Amino acid sequence: MKRKSMLLLGVIMGIVCLILAGCNQADTGTQTAPSEHPNEEVGDGILIVYFSYTGNTREMAEYIGQNTGGTVVEIVAQLPYTAADTDYNDSASRCQIERRTDARPEISQETYDRIEMADYKTVFIGYPMWNGEEPMIIRTFIESYGELKDKDVYTFSSSGSSSPVSMNAAMKTRYGETNIVSNLHLTSAALPQAESRIQTWLAESGLLKEEENILYLKINGTVLTARLADNTTAKALIEELKKGDITIDMHDYGNMEKVGTLGVTLPNNNETIQTEAGDIIWYANSELVLYYDTNRWNFTRVGKIENITGEELKAILGDGNVTVTLSLTK
Ligand SMILES: Cc1cc2nc3c(=O)[nH]c(=O)nc-3n(C[C@H](O)[C@H](O)[C@H](O)COP(=O)(O)O)c2cc1C
Repeated sequence: MKRKSMLLLGVIMGIVCLILAGCNQADTGTQTAPSEHPNEEVGDGILIVYFSYTGNTREMAEYIGQNTGGTVVEIVAQLPYTAADTDYNDSASRCQIERRTDARPEISQETYDRIEMADYKTVFIGYPMWNGEEPMIIRTFIESYGELKDKDVYTFSSSGSSSPVSMNAAMKTRYGETNIVSNLHLTSAALPQAESRIQTWLAESGLLKEEENILYLKINGTVLTARLADNTTAKALIEELKKGDITIDMHDYGNMEKVGTLGVTLPNNNETIQTEAGDIIWYANSELVLYYDTNRWNFTRVGKIENITGEELKAILGDGNVTVTLSLTK
């Protein structure tokens, strides 16, 4: 009898909690405490840790990793969660018991082994909302590292529809000395825009990695984007372009390319290349070539204009002479 009433109480508490968490359905997005600023030094030391049961938070973590260049590590439970463990309608499920007992579920040793915390200044912590709060294993993590007091901490989270407001407020109260700079929360409705939402958040936080290998070609009012090759030729071109844009007069050759003198000398990395439309080639120690058709020769790859057909490129370049400006900025 006693056990039954305990169970009933547990179910009622669970329902009340879900209702409270769901009251504010708005996806409030980024929240930054005005009094707290990230430390200015932003280097390689970015760690992204996350716990995810169905994969939504993992997807967010991967985008954060790609867009910051940071190291992504999954928080794996020593005892992995099963479907029954995460049944929030069952007051006797593991997740409900852990909440009620304020448990600190163990994290696997492999997770700890992958983290050299002294290497990081910035730590992103990601998790799904579980019954209006972060899963208890996130508390295990934060407390395992002395509440991360010497770090800039960013949290990211996902939920079905609940607002993160009370979850975030409770976390700030619990870990009052932790510098939690901001949170990005995505409900399932916002998940399809996860990448752009994350990029915006990272840009606002000053943590968005600069793309070092993008070249813009400005031709007759059109701006084309090219991805530069990973070689010393492209790197030398970037260094030249950091001094300023380079404008080249180009002309047709062989019904396959526009070619013109670059005006600066780049190192060669010659190899036999079968060209495709969009290829940017360094040739004869002085010439830059834009291919709109195929050729096979021993010369150096500089980069490639993305997502363009030969016809499209030819139409943009036009007939006869053309002026092309190379730039690192749009
Ligand atoms: C145990 C449990 C409790 C949950 N509680 C909530 C909740 O309170 N509010 C909500 O909107 N979604 C809730 N959800 C849904 C998850 O927060 C949501 O699906 C999240 O995106 C899952 O992230 P993941 O794929 O990284 O595990 C809950 C899911 C589980 C498994």
